[in-house]
Amino acid sequence: MTLISNESVFDEEFIPQMLIKRKKQIDQITSYLKPITLGHKAPNLLLHGSPGTGKTVTGKFILKKFSRKVRTCYINCSIHRSLHSVLDYMVSQLRVLGGFQQSVNAKLKALEKHLSQPMVIMLDEIDWPSPKDRDIILYNFLKFPTVSLMLICASRYSVLEMDKRVISRLNLLPVEFPPYSEDDLFRILRQRAKLGLSPGAWDEDLIRKVVGMTDSDVRVAIKTLYNAAVTAETMKSEKILPEHINKGLVRAKELERKYKIEKLGVYPKMIYRIVDKVGLISSSNLFKECLKRCRELNIPPMPRRSYFYHINNLLRDKLIEAEDYGERYFKVRR
Ligand SMILES: Nc1ncnc2c1ncn2[C@@H]1O[C@H](COP(=O)(O)OP(=O)(O)OP(=O)(O)O)[C@@H](O)[C@H]1O
Ligand SMILES: [Mg+2]
Repeated sequence: MTLISNESVFDEEFIPQMLIKRKKQIDQITSYLKPITLGHKAPNLLLHGSPGTGKTVTGKFILKKFSRKVRTCYINCSIHRSLHSVLDYMVSQLRVLGGFQQSVNAKLKALEKHLSQPMVIMLDEIDWPSPKDRDIILYNFLKFPTVSLMLICASRYSVLEMDKRVISRLNLLPVEFPPYSEDDLFRILRQRAKLGLSPGAWDEDLIRKVVGMTDSDVRVAIKTLYNAAVTAETMKSEKILPEHINKGLVRAKELERKYKIEKLGVYPKMIYRIVDKVGLISSSNLFKECLKRCRELNIPPMPRRSYFYHINNLLRDKLIEAEDYGERYFKVRR
């Protein structure tokens, strides 16, 4: 019995033809980038929002639309973290002759013909390269007046860490991606079910159940639905039943936790690791431990302001939780 009619619908790479609840962002970005289709310079954009708010899928959706008229390039900066690696990737994507040469300057020269024409470059996960590498990447693209950059990161705060001259020359227009409501998630998941599962394999109650069980996390919800379908198929069931959800849910949650931890920057990962090791730790002791760790690693001490900022993000992303005993104590959220 095949319950899954199209596996690719459940891939992270999949781009639906219609995005739920993102019309405002799509219209905004499309109108900001419109000048580029007329051969003019368009502004640089910053798409920001918590994990799983659809920044990557919306950015790719827009690139697909614009690629009919202008050149576009998607670069994942969590993989390509230096100018050299970014240019290497662009050379291969755009099939640029002469780009095989080793030096950054030779690569830039080989890419010049493309970069001197209207082009949209999406730099996803721009908060991954070190601040220095990030400045170098951006600074070099800023030399090309008809290139528009679409930067993607979890928070606007990352931008504040950039070199002041780069920030002012980028002149970024922010586009916010607010979290989805439970109803939005229901619609996103129902869309996946319609596209990827056989008609008799699911019903709306099942979708509602998956959304309710996954803590409003869209990635976990999509993976859980897929895992449940695989379990149901293995058990030769004619449709996906609530009992097929549980096993897949645990696996999806573990994967998502790993993914989120993997994605953390140096300081938040340090905070998470300390909390994980100690078990339960007060906020003041945690901050002291962080400073000690910075000294051991020989990296700049974590500023107090960014400590609170990272704590709030870890709480928001449900990686840690707080308990109040007069002072705030933290532990890893299981
Ligand atoms: N509005 C939407 N309509 C349909 N599918 C969506 C929508 N938003 C997100 N998704 C799906 O949810 C998953 C997560 O979305 P996406 O990767 O775009 O999030 P993100 O904001 O880039 O997260 P991160 O900050 O972790 O990179 C993807 O599989 C994506 O296709
Ligand atoms: Mg993303």
